[in-house]
Amino acid sequence: MRKKILAANWKMNLTQVEAASFVQTFLGEIGEVNDVEIVIVPPFTSIPALAQISEKAPFIRLGAQNVHWERSGAYTGEISATMLRALFVKYVLIGHSERRSLFGETDETVNRKVSAALEAGLRPIMCIGESLAERESGLVEKVLHRQVEGGLKGIAADHMSEIVLAYEPVWAIGTGRTATPEQAEEAHAFIRSVLAELFDQSSADRIRIQYGGSVKPENTEDLMRKPDIDGALVGGASLDPRSFAQIIRATEKTLK
Ligand code: 13P
Repeated sequence: MRKKILAANWKMNLTQVEAASFVQTFLGEIGEVNDVEIVIVPPFTSIPALAQISEKAPFIRLGAQNVHWERSGAYTGEISATMLRALFVKYVLIGHSERRSLFGETDETVNRKVSAALEAGLRPIMCIGESLAERESGLVEKVLHRQVEGGLKGIAADHMSEIVLAYEPVWAIGTGRTATPEQAEEAHAFIRSVLAELFDQSSADRIRIQYGGSVKPENTEDLMRKPDIDGALVGGASLDPRSFAQIIRATEKTLK
């Protein structure tokens, strides 16, 4: 049984003061959560303000939005996995489509980051997904296969339970245009079949695959009821503590 994982990707939003205020409201809204894992992924500068959050609420983990593959050295502007671990960060987004399209990340750099994160004891949330042009040209499976294979190259099967994949079709990110639950399920089931082919069935069964792209309280329940959808990576709707709390409530409803 895969525990559902809901992550709030704040992207380049919320200062440390705003982050602290978010958490206060959010904790008041959600109360106790037992059956789903929650990850808050603030910008680097707001991580210290949230570093102790798991002490107050053990079901909440801290994430980061990026990591460099080297341990230390002359890499101006970069942050290492060890630095994140020192701030109690547990998860790290790798290869988000904005990193790929705006900052030149490739399957190869994604793969180096996944390796470095695992080596340091961080859990990667590796993001994949096709563009609109790729979907319209019938290339969804080809793109997803390439991204999964390239990103996880050389990673041992026994790391699979520490890795989360996030399927985020680029055309659904920040557009208000969500994939239908059927479209998302089809992609997730395909991704799981690729994992079974590249690793083995038990690894494929263990890995959690989140959906991301215009997730809102209103569309959460239908998405989360699909068998291969193991959570959500939420952008815009996670900036409001009440709407992120509603997304968690809607997910919990599907477990009853
Ligand atoms: P939106 O939820 O704003 O569409 O963003 C999705 C996303 O990119 C999460 O990583």
